[in-house]
Amino acid sequence: MKHRGKIVFLAGVLVALGAGWLGFPRAIYQSRPQPVNFSHKVHADKAGSKCEDCHAFREDGTFADIPSLDKCAGCHAAAMGSTVAEKNFIDRYVTPQREPPWASYARQPENVYFSHITHVKLAQVKCERCHGGEGSTDTLRPYQQDRISGYSRDVWRDMKMDDCVACHRQHGLEHSCLDCHK
Ligand code: HEC
Ligand code: HEC
Ligand code: HEC
Ligand code: HEC
Ligand code: HEC
Repeated sequence: MKHRGKIVFLAGVLVALGAGWLGFPRAIYQSRPQPVNFSHKVHADKAGSKCEDCHAFREDGTFADIPSLDKCAGCHAAAMGSTVAEKNFIDRYVTPQREPPWASYARQPENVYFSHITHVKLAQVKCERCHGGEGSTDTLRPYQQDRISGYSRDVWRDMKMDDCVACHRQHGLEHSCLDCHK
């Protein structure tokens, strides 16, 4: 009797472990689509837009986030092409003057201080070094958020504290905790 209880218990543990193993990567990230099927590639090719046209620096050196609707509305007051993606964008956001609720893949937790101007202008680091090919994509992948920490999955991919510190070390820089944390 005692023995059987143990076996049942062990079998239960194995089943639970197996389920956790398979289900973990899916359960831990919550996925949601971006509001508009925006294409960086179309804007570079057909509109000849430069990064700075949409991503200008703010006075404090951080970027002016993801561009707001007023940066788009001038060109898209009426349709310029005949794609479904553009029509949906105009009907849902431009005409009703509603900001698309973009999710930022690279966004760090609130307590981290990061300045773009230092890295892009002073250190001459290319956008791609930190963002990969995000600035030339043709469609948008879903935004994935870690359910427990609330972090974007991309932070864990290559923009963790260790990644920042590793590059700083390569440049012979040691930053104190408070340089990066507010
Ligand atoms: C300088 C003009 C210009 C600006 C500014 C602009 N667009 Fe566009 N956009 C275009 C052109 C040109 C196309 C291609 C139209 C076509 O031929 O189908 C396009 C296409 C699109 C499409 C359809 C994508 C596809 O797959 O073809 C979407 C969605 C879109 N734009 C959203 C935006 C958003 C959001 C902004 C602001 C952040 C913006 N646009 C700013 C010119 C512009
Ligand atoms: C027509 C306006 C426009 C232009 C031009 C543009 N972007 Fe964007 N960018 C956007 C919009 C809208 C988003 C939000 C949707 C997305 O994530 O792609 C975005 C998002 C991004 C992101 C993702 C930020 C994040 O973490 O979510 C990166 C990186 C980026 N852009 C880099 C670039 C680079 C590099 C260039 C120049 C090669 C560029 N962009 C040109 C409008 C633009
Ligand atoms: C040294 C690494 C690094 C470089 C180089 C870099 N970025 Fe970023 N970027 C980041 C980090 C980290 C964040 C998140 C910042 C935050 O959460 O405050 C970010 C956020 C963004 C965002 C989203 C802003 C938001 O609303 O959260 C955009 C857009 C962006 N970067 C565009 C660019 C463009 C365009 C370039 C090149 C001109 C560039 N980045 C160069 C690290 C970098
Ligand atoms: C590819 C290399 C690289 C990566 C990755 C990088 N940095 Fe830096 N960072 C630099 C360099 C180089 C400087 C010194 C720039 C100068 O002063 O010339 C610097 C300076 C800084 C400074 C001090 C200057 C300022 O802006 O106040 C802070 C803070 C900082 N980085 C935060 C971060 C954080 C946070 C991350 C990760 C999200 C990060 N960095 C990732 C290269 C990098
Ligand atoms: C070069 C910039 C940089 C420096 C220097 C730095 N941090 Fe961080 N730290 C980050 C970034 C970016 C994150 C968010 C991403 C992550 O969790 O890895 C973070 C996250 C953290 C977290 C939260 C971890 C979590 O999993 O939520 C703690 C705690 C922390 N840092 C403590 C420190 C302490 C203590 C120091 C000084 C010994 C320090 N940091 C120095 C950039 C830095």
